[in-house]
Amino acid sequence: MELLVVSLMLLLASCGLSLDNGLMKTPPMGWLAWERFRCNVDCEADPENCISERLFMDMADRLAEDGWKELGYEYVNIDDCWAAKKRDSEGRLVADPQRFPSGIKALAKYVHSKGLKLGIYGDLGTYTCGGYPGTTLDYIELDADTFASWGVDMLKLDGCYSNSSTKALGYPLMSKALNATGRRIAFSCSWPAYEGGLPPKVNYTFLGEICNLWRNYDDIDDSWESVRKIINWYSSHQDVLQPAAGPGRWNDPDMLIIGNFGLSYEQSKAQMALWAILAAPLFMSNDLRAISMKASSILQNKLLIRINQDPLGVQGRLLLKGKNNIDVWMRELSLSTMALVFFSQRTDMPYHYTTSLSQLNITAPNVFSAQDVYSEWVQRGLDIDTKFTVTINPSGVVMLYVYPERKLKRTQG
Ligand SMILES: *[C@@H]1O[C@H](CO)[C@@H](O)[C@H](O)[C@H]1NC(C)=O
Ligand SMILES: *[C@@H]1O[C@H](CO)[C@@H](O)[C@H](O)[C@H]1NC(C)=O
Ligand SMILES: *[C@@H]1O[C@H](CO)[C@@H](O)[C@H](O)[C@H]1NC(C)=O
Repeated sequence: MELLVVSLMLLLASCGLSLDNGLMKTPPMGWLAWERFRCNVDCEADPENCISERLFMDMADRLAEDGWKELGYEYVNIDDCWAAKKRDSEGRLVADPQRFPSGIKALAKYVHSKGLKLGIYGDLGTYTCGGYPGTTLDYIELDADTFASWGVDMLKLDGCYSNSSTKALGYPLMSKALNATGRRIAFSCSWPAYEGGLPPKVNYTFLGEICNLWRNYDDIDDSWESVRKIINWYSSHQDVLQPAAGPGRWNDPDMLIIGNFGLSYEQSKAQMALWAILAAPLFMSNDLRAISMKASSILQNKLLIRINQDPLGVQGRLLLKGKNNIDVWMRELSLSTMALVFFSQRTDMPYHYTTSLSQLNITAPNVFSAQDVYSEWVQRGLDIDTKFTVTINPSGVVMLYVYPERKLKRTQG
């Protein structure tokens, strides 16, 4: 057994598959400003919600004090519109002096004092998407050094205002420059999202060597339509995307919008379940100062987080597409366990779906128990041929954690 583990580790190490900074062996978790707070820079009209050090300190406080940190939500991430419109006299990026009077270094110190990590945003191009100074090729090393000197722990590098050839040069160069700083800084690459997210324009093997995570597809908005579009794009292209993910290298379907305005309770449960199946980064973009108990309970579901954070790091797959508009997803987990999601894209009424593990093409010499992740319901004694029925609400999910009850007697051969 130990030999097997050792040889597996050697195999993984010799493949050199992921960016060699030792970070994000499980999908990163935290909070990211963009979807909820965008480029709101009017701190006079909207002091509580504008992009300012106060917003990030508030979120750090909430993560540290409201039980998020203990569950793994550790990153506090700045997105676009944090910088001053001009670099300083030495060419360095500086934070907007009105909105970040203490500077990013002090903000990092504050975030670290809470036991959390700070992420920042840059853009490989002439400008950021919001029109702030971008990182052209000649600024890559200086900007990496600046972020490291501030004590930043993660960089999301966007790709507005540059062409494909600049991106093909710049993303690997930034990866190298971050490594050269000597500070371990996780690297989130928006590159594939700008190239359509698919081969031959995107080489996922290469991305895994230079980035810890990457955005493949469009930005998420605060709507169910947006969540559905993302999920269906991921399932359509899972043969390409699923093998790309693994410890230290993750597909990023974008932020969790649970706790905002666009999703119903059922839809919120669906987003969380599918993001767990996809081994997706869990970056919430919501207002943690004013979040409902219902939304918190979804985002703080321990079993769901454990599934998302499974150490094998194998992304799940869509097993069965759309029969009666019910999709069945499965993620293989460590210790011979698995997660199943029954996802309804129906719009009529709760749907009773009867199946068995063998009907889902799951074969294993075990008797299983299945636990509903969102309720107390447990079904014991599931043989692979045992029929069971789940009731799935419209635009909702039933998610099951399936684990072996006991090993059947080993038969020879
Ligand atoms: C830089 O890369 C080397 C080799 O790829 C690795 O051993 C080292 O840990 C990396 N350092 C940082 C700070 O990421
Ligand atoms: C891409 O942009 C760079 C920098 O602006 C420019 O020098 C280069 O000619 C562009 N390449 C193409 C193929 O447009
Ligand atoms: C993709 O990148 C890998 C790793 O850098 C490389 O070995 C491979 O040749 C690339 N594939 C293509 C089609 O360019």
